[in-house]
Amino acid sequence: MPRVSIEGLDKVFDVNEAEILYDSLYDRGHELPHGCLAGSCGACRIEILSGSENLQPAGVIEKNTLEAIREEYSQKNGPDSIKGKEIRLSCRAKVLGDVKIKPFK
Ligand code: FES
Repeated sequence: MPRVSIEGLDKVFDVNEAEILYDSLYDRGHELPHGCLAGSCGACRIEILSGSENLQPAGVIEKNTLEAIREEYSQKNGPDSIKGKEIRLSCRAKVLGDVKIKPFK
């Protein structure tokens, strides 16, 4: 059973394999920041601190939104600011194994 941990939170969530990350935490009493829950607004963006290989690869909708987020973030904070950061959308990413995350602002 995959385990999800959140930076700064002293709790680990056991979730079902292939569950959507946002839903899996919501169902267990933890609500992440969110908006549309459909992959287009980007409000649910998270940074993957470890275990990015344990998330199902992003589909087209998520990829497009992530591209817009990366572009906006580098314009605001400089081109190197987002290098090396693994960003995903919690409302789209499916959990296949252990991951550690934090909301990405
Ligand atoms: S909540 Fe809008 S993209 Fe995830």
